[in-house]
Amino acid sequence: MPLRQGTRVDRMLRPIHRWVWGDFDRRVRKLIAFAQVEGDGGRDILRAAEVTPDPLLRRLYLEHAIDELRHADLFRQRGTALLRQRATRSTSLFNTNPLPGGHGLDDLSIEGEPDHRLLAFLHVAEKAAAGRFAIYRDVVDDDPSTRAIFEEILRDEVFHMNYTYTQLARVSPASYRWQVWAARANRLWKRYLRLAAGVAGVMGGAILTLTYFVVLAPFAWPAKRAERREPAGWTAIPEREEPPTSLY
Ligand SMILES: [Fe+2]
Ligand SMILES: [Fe+2]
Repeated sequence: MPLRQGTRVDRMLRPIHRWVWGDFDRRVRKLIAFAQVEGDGGRDILRAAEVTPDPLLRRLYLEHAIDELRHADLFRQRGTALLRQRATRSTSLFNTNPLPGGHGLDDLSIEGEPDHRLLAFLHVAEKAAAGRFAIYRDVVDDDPSTRAIFEEILRDEVFHMNYTYTQLARVSPASYRWQVWAARANRLWKRYLRLAAGVAGVMGGAILTLTYFVVLAPFAWPAKRAERREPAGWTAIPEREEPPTSLY
């Protein structure tokens, strides 16, 4: 299966990818985040190797897991090496990444998943990762060591993308195309939910801020007027009719 250089959206966003990777601290954060995702994905695939009843898949999952754990090491080592080069904190205004990450293996769930669903999920995730890593490799052309890591990992991701598709066609010959579409739709749905949750957070903040200024602000004026009518300092309490021993 040929590798395309990311989705059309990713290709359109290439200048933003270049901007994201252009900042030293963002680059380090991305590498460390990738190490985390690849390592978690590797451990999940290791679990898939334990539970699958298919001997061939067990061997392939095992190889796949070893690859992902090695990717985690490569990303972590490169991130650490870059950090050692400059151990200063960033002063840039925007330190996070506005774009989704590389692999998408963080959504991987093994328990109770049949092999065909797992293979379809892995195929879609690996394809996305391969396309995106190809873009990252191109935008870090100022950093040959990081570029070499993407180049090396990209070869593995293409292998993962291809073997998952081949095995999916083997274990589910009647419906493998449908399985891939379902996995793609599921991935898009999860992306939408994440985006919607982010937008809802921003909108919630904006509405509360607006409410603070629009609804509460009109009360400030009468409150200030009432304050002006109040005498300043201590005020003598009028004589009480109750005996001084009473609490009330
Ligand atoms: Fe990987
Ligand atoms: Fe992979």
